[in-house]
Amino acid sequence: MEPFARHIIDWYASHGRDLPWRRTRDPYRIWISEIILQQTRVAQGYDYFLRFMQHFPTLESLAAASEEEVMRLWQGLGYYSRARNLHAAAKSVVDAGRGFPTTYEGVRAMKGVGDYTAAAICSLAYGLPCAVVDGNVYRVLSRHFGISTPIDSVAGKKEFAALAQSLIADTDPARYNQAIMDFGALQCTPQTPLCDDCPLAGSCLAKAEGLVQQLPIKSHRAQQTTRHLHFLLLRQGERFILQKRTGNDIWRGLFQLPLVETPEAMSAEDFLASAAFRELLQQFAEDEDLSSVTLRPLRSGVKHVLTHRILWANFYEATLQPSVTSKTPKAPKTPKAPKIPDGYVLVSPSELDHYALPRLVSAFLDDYLH
Ligand code: ADE
Repeated sequence: MEPFARHIIDWYASHGRDLPWRRTRDPYRIWISEIILQQTRVAQGYDYFLRFMQHFPTLESLAAASEEEVMRLWQGLGYYSRARNLHAAAKSVVDAGRGFPTTYEGVRAMKGVGDYTAAAICSLAYGLPCAVVDGNVYRVLSRHFGISTPIDSVAGKKEFAALAQSLIADTDPARYNQAIMDFGALQCTPQTPLCDDCPLAGSCLAKAEGLVQQLPIKSHRAQQTTRHLHFLLLRQGERFILQKRTGNDIWRGLFQLPLVETPEAMSAEDFLASAAFRELLQQFAEDEDLSSVTLRPLRSGVKHVLTHRILWANFYEATLQPSVTSKTPKAPKTPKAPKIPDGYVLVSPSELDHYALPRLVSAFLDDYLH
């Protein structure tokens, strides 16, 4: 067995989920579960599956039901053509009088059954070596084997199907398929995969090359844009300024530290000298003189990945010093309090819980303030 398959199956032995459709090899039950799971997540699919089985415990009972009954049970799952196809397929299999199909071709010919569902049914019910390729499998394989061929291209579909098929050889196909699906759903998740505690970390090419967040590639995915954010901590005593985000952009309605965004990455020196920084700061200064602003880098190069966006953030503390050209040389050297323009609020650390903040900002503040 391939080491990859061995690791996945070992992982499944201790982490796999005990799900009701896994306690059977009845192709009818497996078929129903797979069609439901194309529509919804496991947690929600669970109840739908149990209710379906209560009402229609057999293929024959489903075939004999009225369309309204089937639709009523499907209600809430959406995409009602799936339910209609399910019903039509049950009727036509029963009409044919040969029982549930037992070959890949026979299963694949059922209405509403595609490559994925046919492979799932044939492997889980009959133990046939048909590898499933769904979103979870694309993600796990593209990361582990470092494959950047787009998964929504003809070439990608072919490449991933062939790789998946080669990995299932010499395994228990039912167990392997369930294992890789759970591995993708629980371990190698889209946004925050558990790489630090992964049995495949040592051989994962995406991990080695820092590409975990980039893979899998979709050619039709909206282009990933990179944005450069510079957040300012502007203090007045222990309190600091937050700004409510408005406009049609990420984090709408959330609060953040005052922000300057630049088209390119920028050093602290360049940022201090930039017009954008000066403009933002001007709002908080009582007079025109910004010559003695100090900028202290607190965190630099913090990467934060959102759907379709990679954010690079720097956090600075900006302090408005009393003017050095002041005519009163004995003026105390305490920093000037920033004024609070409209759209901004002054909050203390203990009030922070009342504000919804982007995770990037709250993570910084949690870390920095404690
Ligand atoms: N998602 C789709 N099919 C599944 C299955 N058989 N087990 C867990 N998740 C799934």
